[in-house]
Amino acid sequence: MTVTADQIAALDAADPLAHFRDRFAIREGLIYLDGNSLGMLPKQTLARMQQTVTQEWGEGLITSWLAADWVNSPQRIGDKIARLIGAEPGEVIAGESTSINIFKALTAALSLQKGRNVLLSETSNFPTDNYMMQGLARFSDGRLETREVAPDDVLGALDENVAVLLLTQVHYKTARVRDMRAVTRAAHEAGALVVWDLSHSAGAIEVDLNGANADFAVGCGYKFLNGGPGAPAYLFAAKRHHHAEPVLSGWFGHARPFEFEGDYAPAPGIDRFQCGTPPVLGMVALEEGIDLMLEADMAAIRNKSISLSELFVKLVEERCGEFGFAFVCPPDSAQRGSQVAFAHPEAYAMMQALKAREVIGDFRAPDVMRFGLTPLYTSHADVAEAVERLRTICVNREWDRPEYRERAAVT
Ligand SMILES: Cc1ncc(COP(=O)(O)O)c(C=O)c1O
Repeated sequence: MTVTADQIAALDAADPLAHFRDRFAIREGLIYLDGNSLGMLPKQTLARMQQTVTQEWGEGLITSWLAADWVNSPQRIGDKIARLIGAEPGEVIAGESTSINIFKALTAALSLQKGRNVLLSETSNFPTDNYMMQGLARFSDGRLETREVAPDDVLGALDENVAVLLLTQVHYKTARVRDMRAVTRAAHEAGALVVWDLSHSAGAIEVDLNGANADFAVGCGYKFLNGGPGAPAYLFAAKRHHHAEPVLSGWFGHARPFEFEGDYAPAPGIDRFQCGTPPVLGMVALEEGIDLMLEADMAAIRNKSISLSELFVKLVEERCGEFGFAFVCPPDSAQRGSQVAFAHPEAYAMMQALKAREVIGDFRAPDVMRFGLTPLYTSHADVAEAVERLRTICVNREWDRPEYRERAAVT
């Protein structure tokens, strides 16, 4: 049965999150399906940035570290992120990039796993995750080794040598959702610790780190959390692991940074996972994105995300069935995160043609078109219109132009 315009309008009319759309700076006519790469700008972020730059920095200068509480922003924002991912206050710290936090979490976990030497992941994990493992192994000069296996072979690869398993909960390309509780249990039974990458989970699906008995986790601030380009990331360490030894032993993670002591002494609690001075402007923007996200009910976000993704898939089947798109995500929407992805030999050129028609998704090599579904500002009407524009560029072969085949530096 075909989906009608009335049905789509009814879905949007019944949407409990619809009012959030007006909280973002959305350009009329643009269909933005890339909030899983860079979230949209919340209107409140503009005002807060203005105040931070002109008053806190411009006038308050260094006194704002205390007066505007810049100094506690990593912990304060970490506590807010904790509410989105099933962690306790004092278990999450905001700062650095996800890649750096992967390094911190891996090394912290290794410090608790003396005698084990394998860093395990899946081959198709997001590249930076595996690159960070590989760098550590190279640096260890033979002491550590990486083991990268096919996605379905991960649990079978757990043995007495595996120190840490590093996995992304929602796969960046296929959107496959890992069962955090079951994987963590299996890893623990084998004596391994797990580092979860939540970059495509936080703000997109319900995450319950402590419910899953998770060890460590990291994630991006600039995707579903709408923290702005290059926003600080975050690190979770379960309270029982707060005695882990930081390898990035910078002064902000010291027990008494302003005593300027000669030797490093790690701070108690999550503070030891800080390294250097927090990037205040980025923190301020991140906090606004998270405050906005905290106003929404995560179950409502997940329900709408599933509804958007099911509509997208159905409409692509109906309206673009003859153009050879291969759906690369799990067919069951309960097993998918908040994105849909289709493989096509002309995926790159097609995405450029779609962008020319004001539909923004992204391309993931070698042949995948990926569309992020961000329930706070994406409507069912957006999804329907995006698929219509996809059909148009296929019917007219608008993608078949030499300029659309030239690879840009960011895809
Ligand atoms: C799963 C995952 N991990 C990490 C990153 C990026 O890490 P970083 O913020 O260090 O660039 C991404 C970026 O898309 C990602 O999808």
